[in-house]
Amino acid sequence: MNLTEKIAIVTGASSGIGAEFSRALVGKGATVYGLARRGSKLEAIRKELGEQFKPVVIDITDAGYVQNWVTSTFVKGLVPHILVNNAGTGLFNKVEDMTLDEWHTMMNINLSGVFYMTKYVVPLMKLNPDVCHIINISSVAGLIGNPSISGYNATKFGVRGFSEALMKELRYDGIKVSCMFPGSIATEFFDKAGSETHPNMMMGRDVATVLINLLELPDNFLIDEVTMRPLNPKPPEKRQ
Ligand SMILES: NC(=O)c1ccc[n+]([C@@H]2O[C@H](COP(=O)([O-])OP(=O)(O)OC[C@H]3O[C@@H](n4cnc5c(N)ncnc54)[C@H](OP(=O)(O)O)[C@@H]3O)[C@@H](O)[C@H]2O)c1
Repeated sequence: MNLTEKIAIVTGASSGIGAEFSRALVGKGATVYGLARRGSKLEAIRKELGEQFKPVVIDITDAGYVQNWVTSTFVKGLVPHILVNNAGTGLFNKVEDMTLDEWHTMMNINLSGVFYMTKYVVPLMKLNPDVCHIINISSVAGLIGNPSISGYNATKFGVRGFSEALMKELRYDGIKVSCMFPGSIATEFFDKAGSETHPNMMMGRDVATVLINLLELPDNFLIDEVTMRPLNPKPPEKRQ
């Protein structure tokens, strides 16, 4: 896909890799609808990127709100080419200590939010004569289970299954589906997750380069899954 003048939707655009995806897409000439709840953060990104970045204050866990926004925005021939389902959160806890609220928060944002966005955007993409692309952000936690992240694991394994099924369902409609499985990236994510960070995490801008590479591939060429990790995540004393 040539990204010039394409229309992209990026959820979780107010910080972290969603903000980096927005910068990279606008840099390539796309218009980005950046969705998140914190309007002030989105507004700061609009000031930085200009009118090609359209801030949208929305909670993607509200299906009615998502439907209204999609159907009222994409009218009069305006159709999205790209949907990046990126918004997500990790609330790490042992299973007996995890609250019902933490479980449901992760399910609602990481899994139901991805479903709502996809459900309402896909019919528009089917009308688009150009090849379209949905990119879902899972995690290495969508491939490997680990102690104290079972709830997060469940949502990110879910994103993987959803993506694989969707890839097979939509390929004959000219809609690509890719799922990204990043390891640790230096973002706000770990402040909320309450887990340890390390000094060698990946940088969001490098993850954004991978997104652009996936999007720019020829129409009849699909990479459906990409795993990415820091090469050297641990200092010598912590290596096994
Ligand atoms: N950082 C990592 O190491 C890592 C590794 C693998 C995968 N990931 C995944 O990468 C994605 C982005 O995370 P990040 O690392 O960039 O962390 P981040 O900086 O915390 O970004 C999370 C984004 O999701 C948005 N968001 C959360 N709940 C939302 C809701 N209900 N409605 C709309 N937007 C919502 C947040 O915006 P508001 O708070 O303004 O709504 C924020 O923009 C997540 O899916 C995460 O699971 C991260």
